[in-house]
Amino acid sequence: ATSARHIDISEFAAALQRECSILVGENDFKWRNTQPQPDRKTWGHAEAVANFAQRHKMQLRGHTMIWHEAMPPWALEGIKESRERATQILRDRVNSIGAQFRGRIATWDVVNEAIERRDGLRHGMRNSAFFSALGEGYLDLAFATAKEIDPAAHRAYNDFGMDHEVDWQRDRRRDVLTLLERLQARKVPIDTLGIQAHLRADLPFRENTFRTFLRRVADLGLRIEITEFDVNDRALPADTAIRDKAVADLTRRYLDVALDEPKVVSVLTWGISDRHSWLSDMPDRRRADGLRQRGLPFDEVFQRKPMWHAIAKAFDAAPAR
Ligand code: G3I
Repeated sequence: ATSARHIDISEFAAALQRECSILVGENDFKWRNTQPQPDRKTWGHAEAVANFAQRHKMQLRGHTMIWHEAMPPWALEGIKESRERATQILRDRVNSIGAQFRGRIATWDVVNEAIERRDGLRHGMRNSAFFSALGEGYLDLAFATAKEIDPAAHRAYNDFGMDHEVDWQRDRRRDVLTLLERLQARKVPIDTLGIQAHLRADLPFRENTFRTFLRRVADLGLRIEITEFDVNDRALPADTAIRDKAVADLTRRYLDVALDEPKVVSVLTWGISDRHSWLSDMPDRRRADGLRQRGLPFDEVFQRKPMWHAIAKAFDAAPAR
């Protein structure tokens, strides 16, 4: 994942060119950044990322069409007006970004993060603006519209919290699986699950659980993409060697299982260097000791870390696909 403001920095650009074959915009394709006003489309930053990918012969993921975060205030207001207005706003969003990048996106994250059991709704659905206005059918509408506007792109449902052996993630695995089953029962045109994989170094990971989950998704006939991989080291001690080893070990264990599943077709990390990571930006993810998080393959000065080698070894050991 990268941003228009990073591809202008030579160290970021060099590392991305050398290391990556798929790019995704971390923020530049989001709704608030591409349509701040109903009649104002601002594609410049997203186009910069898309052009960088094209120039360097990389694939491009589209992130994201519909998400409850990073929405422009005018859309949130409009959705509340009526069911008809909500439908029109959703279709306009998908059509406008879909048309802008038609033919250039390998996979669209059509809907991002629709599950949130804490919201207390049936099936663990998130109580988002579109859900309130349209019910679960907003996903059907988003995927159908995405297919109309760019039929050649893969279409993903993308979500987090499906990785670890803890109760809330077990619930999310179940809720995502049953959502996918309902979508398929309604013939919604989805072909991919995006697993964000924002891992936490302090949470238990169990190979068998994750393997079984991937198998169940694959049995639905879906492709799987690992879309936002990183490892949060917030709960680990300050010592760099200890953190780097724990991050690398978890990376290797996770990717070994993921890549063993033939339906897993790609792995993207959420950034490339610890110089920029959302984990060091967000107040609730930042380390209490003020040190930068070390959850990405390159350190702040673009040196390879043990995590880079863990990824390389997992890729080398993966069965051919
Ligand atoms: O660009 C402005 C800058 O001008 C301003 O000075 C600064 C002050 O806070 O904010 C900057 O924007 C921030 C932007 O990141 C760029 O750093 C936004 O406030 C901040 O909300 C935004 O956070 C992003 C977040 O999504 C919300 O959109 C993170 O970078 C991004 O990593 C994160 O990515 C999400 C995925 O899209 C979905 N999955 C989870 C993942 C992590 O939260």
